[in-house]
Amino acid sequence: MTFQYDVLIIGSGAAGLTAALALAEHKRVLVLAKGSLTGGSTAWAQGGIAAVLDTGDTFENHVRDTMIAGAGLNNRETVEFVIERAPDSIDRLCELGVPFNRDDYDEGGDLHLTREGGHSHRRIVHVDDATGWAVQSALLKAADANPNITMLPGRTCVDLITSRNGEKYSAEGRVWGAYALDEATGRVVAHTARATVMAAGGAGRVYQFSTAPRGATGDGIAMAWRAGARMSNMEMMQFHPTCLYNLEVKNFLITEAVRGEGGHLLHPETGHRFMADYDPERMELAPRDVVARAIDDQIKRYGLDYVHLDISHKPADFVRGHFPTIDEKLSGLGIDMTTQPIPVVPAQHYTCGGVIVGLDASTDLPGLWAAGECTESGLHGANRLASNSLLECFVFGEAAAKDILERWDELPAPPAIKAWDESRVTDSDEEVVIKQNWTEIRRFMWNYVGIVRTTKRLERARHRIHMLGQEIEDYYDSFRVTTDLIELRNLHQSAFLIVESALERHESRGLHYTLDYPETDEVARDTVLVP
Ligand code: FAD
Ligand code: SIN
Repeated sequence: MTFQYDVLIIGSGAAGLTAALALAEHKRVLVLAKGSLTGGSTAWAQGGIAAVLDTGDTFENHVRDTMIAGAGLNNRETVEFVIERAPDSIDRLCELGVPFNRDDYDEGGDLHLTREGGHSHRRIVHVDDATGWAVQSALLKAADANPNITMLPGRTCVDLITSRNGEKYSAEGRVWGAYALDEATGRVVAHTARATVMAAGGAGRVYQFSTAPRGATGDGIAMAWRAGARMSNMEMMQFHPTCLYNLEVKNFLITEAVRGEGGHLLHPETGHRFMADYDPERMELAPRDVVARAIDDQIKRYGLDYVHLDISHKPADFVRGHFPTIDEKLSGLGIDMTTQPIPVVPAQHYTCGGVIVGLDASTDLPGLWAAGECTESGLHGANRLASNSLLECFVFGEAAAKDILERWDELPAPPAIKAWDESRVTDSDEEVVIKQNWTEIRRFMWNYVGIVRTTKRLERARHRIHMLGQEIEDYYDSFRVTTDLIELRNLHQSAFLIVESALERHESRGLHYTLDYPETDEVARDTVLVP
């Protein structure tokens, strides 16, 4: 069975829906999403969106902060491209009805700007501490009301449909859409289109501890890699310094804005404000890589389970007013953040590397555009500046739509596509293999490819990835696909890309910190992997 639309979009987060809304003015668009339409990271975003809106702030300041956080690995042209478009993106979100906090909401006052690590100015627009949910809801409402947009949740894309013939990386591999598993019926269906936009989010769940949602298994990255697209800077996995430490709730983020509004990081036994020993000038507002490494060092040095994040010195009304969602969650766990410190640990948070895209969101493969966390656009470099990622989704979602519409007349209609062949596979009789391999990958990635790396540990991880590879491919070739199996295969390939990239970088830069190469090279170079 084959379904055809003008444009296929894989992913219903900020990047996918932004592209869908811009395209739907002229084309019929199909949006496919694994699980629910709100299952991506977008809905979970807390802090906000960075944009120069304060009179004392400038684009140049935001560019500089982004490049300092990115340790010079950013592409300046991309950084300027995104930052200059930020105020317009915020305007469009306001038009869609996102209720950003204002200094005087009823009077339509100025947008309230909060602050996060690495930003030299207040520049984060937000909706309390649940910005992502407000953005996701507004985008979904607009997409739902648009007759040119069809959204199908419960569809796990398996692979891109390409005309590539097994040759090495080549720009000849045109993409005609994707095969997707209907999660309700278990059938795999071809969805074809003249243009496909990959917006399937990051690969955070490759790590044992991550703030990312369950479905962040690198599907978009792995699908594009298998289809022949190059990947860049996959070693740059960002660890957020402050994930709640709790034995039951494993991946709840405590937004950076808590530090932005005055929160202190303390040794849990001595109460020492330890950032003074690592970055005395910027303290808790140093970029994330610096703060995460400092916490990791404290935990390892003193054998701690966690450190404390404390904002109880601020008035209780101020704390509750700024962080109502976090306050409610913590209260349910018996922590009163207005009087008590919060136990926190670093956890994987964001995938800086991914599918290489140009300023028009085009990839190496004709017919495929990509936007959002699955890409490497040159914006983040070696470490993403807080609240620059939702922004990247809006700017590159728009860029993809613009480029597709401009090139529309050159885009060929898809040919007849082979139906998915499952004549040689059966239902799995050993689901335990999936769980076992999934757990194993996430454990060794956490232990061997974490915040502080060594070549020896990376090689150990590489060895395990090779061993598991054959087993996972055999399993994939023998059994009918399920979402769990598709995710395991993608998780494994994402781990492979991260480890291979990390082994290629012989320096420490931004998020990639290795004891074997502690120095930073004079010239910043991207790591590029070719399929
Ligand atoms: P996502 O929003 O992750 O959406 C991915 C989509 O792809 C989903 O619809 C998913 O179902 C779909 N998908 C995945 N695989 C498949 C498949 N195989 N087939 C079909 N569909 C598929 N950034 C900020 O700028 N500011 C913040 O305050 C902020 N806070 C954050 C807080 C948390 C807890 C987390 C985890 C991230 C935060 N980030 C923040 C990062 C930001 O939320 C993400 O980078 C951004 O939302 C990614 O958007 P996206 O559209 O690329 O992907
Ligand atoms: C946060 O709120 O700390 C997350 C912001 C981000 O990831 O950009």
